[in-house]
Amino acid sequence: MPRLWRGFLILLVLISIQMRLYINRLNRVCSDASHVPRNECFVKSIRNKLETTHVAFLKIHKTASTTVQNIFLRFGQSRNLTFILAHDKADLAEIDYLPNVISVNKSLTEKNIVPPPSGKHYDMLCCHVIYNRDSFDRYLPQDTFYIGLVREPIERLESAFAFFGHLKSTNLSEYAKTPYLYHHYVGSMTNNRMSFAFGFPLNLFLKNNSSNVTERDKQSVKDFLVRIRSEFDLILIHERLNHSIILMKRMMNWHIRDVIYISRFSRSRHKRTFLQSEKQSIKSYLYLDYLLYDFALKEFNRKVDRMSDDFHEEVNHFAQLVETVSLFCHAETMMSMHIPSSKWDGYFNVTKTDCDLYKKSEIGFIREIRMRQYGRLNI
Ligand SMILES: *[C@@H]1O[C@H](CO)[C@@H](O)[C@H](O)[C@H]1NC(C)=O
Ligand SMILES: *[C@@H]1O[C@H](CO)[C@@H](O)[C@H](O)[C@H]1NC(C)=O
Ligand SMILES: *[C@@H]1O[C@H](CO)[C@@H](O)[C@H](O)[C@H]1NC(C)=O
Ligand SMILES: *[C@@H]1O[C@H](CO)[C@@H](O)[C@H](O)[C@H]1NC(C)=O
Ligand SMILES: *[C@@H]1O[C@H](CO)[C@@H](O)[C@H](O)[C@H]1NC(C)=O
Ligand SMILES: *[C@@H]1O[C@H](CO)[C@@H](O)[C@H](O)[C@H]1NC(C)=O
Ligand SMILES: *[C@@H]1O[C@H](CO)[C@@H](O)[C@H](O)[C@H]1NC(C)=O
Ligand SMILES: *[C@@H]1O[C@H](CO)[C@@H](O)[C@H](O)[C@H]1NC(C)=O
Repeated sequence: MPRLWRGFLILLVLISIQMRLYINRLNRVCSDASHVPRNECFVKSIRNKLETTHVAFLKIHKTASTTVQNIFLRFGQSRNLTFILAHDKADLAEIDYLPNVISVNKSLTEKNIVPPPSGKHYDMLCCHVIYNRDSFDRYLPQDTFYIGLVREPIERLESAFAFFGHLKSTNLSEYAKTPYLYHHYVGSMTNNRMSFAFGFPLNLFLKNNSSNVTERDKQSVKDFLVRIRSEFDLILIHERLNHSIILMKRMMNWHIRDVIYISRFSRSRHKRTFLQSEKQSIKSYLYLDYLLYDFALKEFNRKVDRMSDDFHEEVNHFAQLVETVSLFCHAETMMSMHIPSSKWDGYFNVTKTDCDLYKKSEIGFIREIRMRQYGRLNI
């Protein structure tokens, strides 16, 4: 009899340890999936243990989007996922010289993308195209994880000038007085480009220096941002890239090795910047981008606040790792580097082959993906 009791007690202890471990794990998953309301979290975390493989990334020029895109290209390539790609036949492509751009002023259409290979469906989108939920829904699975990326708007504008070589002979102080006189059309790379890419209603873009934002406009912007909040799972912040990537990794159940990057910000020597006194005028010109950016930052901070206590610790760990890997990839000597396991992930090796992938040009990478998906470059 006492023996039976002892067995029973041991069993009870074992069960309670198991329960404890299970609840700990659920909590971890729940705090990771911070976009999931707490009550849905338990159900979702049980279903949601797999890594996310359906992703839409809204790629916007001059926001470090190529650095982030490389993560998705690597992830999808290593798992044979199917990407949405632009047509590259001259008569079908909208941009016949750039395979990484589906469109600069339209969303996805039957005409500007290649149908998926037979028997496949699209898994991922990370080429330049304008966001429109109805169009995206038509091609991407229901459970797609939507990711945006924004950057401080004046910094983005300065970067766009340097990159596109706009207004080389114009004094920026002159520009700052009346930005409406230069490259002003809606959809240009300088007129509230981030908001344009997010699909803001076109009537919200101001016509000229003397038009004002009305109360009705302000309400429309608010309504639109509420929609963005419900449609995007996460909007990354350029100025907090390492936090962004760790948050994204946690929400999508990816591994640290999947999200390592080598910075490819092109620090142009010719970058010109606005004077402090000129910024107010630019700010009113970029009013949509500022509303979008401030909104995204607030949402981002809200998500970070809901993370577990060790979130910042993991971000520091990651930033250090990025630095170490970057040094390794630029060195000629070693062929492989061992990354020890951490509190958050198992060990892994980084090889020179991985370095080549981190550094691969986006156009070269997309050509390779096109070859894998379709067996040829011209579809
Ligand atoms: C990807 O597809 C190729 C060719 O179809 C196949 O050889 C390879 O094993 C696949 N890899 C994975 C990870 O599924
Ligand atoms: C969209 O961009 C293309 C390529 O730059 C241009 O030819 C076309 O006129 C633009 N369409 C609209 C509606 O702005
Ligand atoms: C640009 O114009 C301002 C006056 O509007 C002048 O003070 C400044 O020196 C000019 N800068 C250059 C680089 O020419
Ligand atoms: C915009 O507002 C300014 C000052 O508030 C006013 O002087 C101007 O007439 C307004 N412009 C328009 C087009 O309503
Ligand atoms: C500026 O835009 C407003 C409407 O937003 C319009 O009423 C006005 O005529 C425009 N002025 C110029 C000079 O184009
Ligand atoms: C345009 O507006 C900005 C501020 O919004 C002002 O500083 C600038 O003087 C205006 N330019 C003209 C030509 O009205
Ligand atoms: C992210 O980490 C890298 C590597 O440590 C560092 O160079 C970079 O400045 C960090 N980025 C941000 C936005 O903190
Ligand atoms: C990592 O490298 C070590 C030493 O070179 C090797 O023994 C190990 O099998 C590698 N592990 C993986 C997962 O590639």
